[in-house]
Amino acid sequence: MSIRIGDVAPDFTAETTEGTVNFHEWLGEGWGVLFSHPKDFTPVCTTELGEAARLKPEFDKRNVKIIGLSVDPSESHHKWAEDIAETQGTALNFPVIADADKKVADLYEMIHPNASDTFTVRSVFVIGPDKKVKLTLTYPASTGRNFAEILRVIDSLQLTAKYSVATPVNWKDGDDVIIVPAVSDEAAKEKFPGGWKTVKPYLRVVAQPGK
Ligand code: BEZ
Repeated sequence: MSIRIGDVAPDFTAETTEGTVNFHEWLGEGWGVLFSHPKDFTPVCTTELGEAARLKPEFDKRNVKIIGLSVDPSESHHKWAEDIAETQGTALNFPVIADADKKVADLYEMIHPNASDTFTVRSVFVIGPDKKVKLTLTYPASTGRNFAEILRVIDSLQLTAKYSVATPVNWKDGDDVIIVPAVSDEAAKEKFPGGWKTVKPYLRVVAQPGK
């Protein structure tokens, strides 16, 4: 059965470019992003890993650890890392799982047989400090992901976790947010003493907290 939002992210132990990782232990108390790549030495993946490495300080700022996966052995990953550093201008600075036996890919259903029996699709799992899955994304092998969007979603998820607010369509950091329906007006008075705008009783808009 596929992994859905709210499920506990399956735990595993795997070899990575930074040694053996027990996933839950490695996540610790923070947030995590697990993302798969179809294959080593492929063009789109090379650009994605370079971009993820470039954005690592942004993930760090949000207390998010990132870990990639490709269904090739460690030696291959290390050789590929040389190409990533050479062509993308940033060296790998996070672990990439060497999943040659497809153990993790199978656990997370990253291989979609009607797309390919051998390559993974581009899966993304964002995992919260409670080890539960907060977001899943699936892209085909031919489309590189937008890592700015992954950071944007993490900002939204972290605001929800901290302040009980949701984010509207096309929201970006600094824009107004929405008080979640589960918060009564009474409770909202405590949480948002600066007030909010009631557009409809179910649509209450407030300045982004913590800004
Ligand atoms: C790529 O990363 O460029 C790629 C991998 C598999 C199929 C198509 C593209």
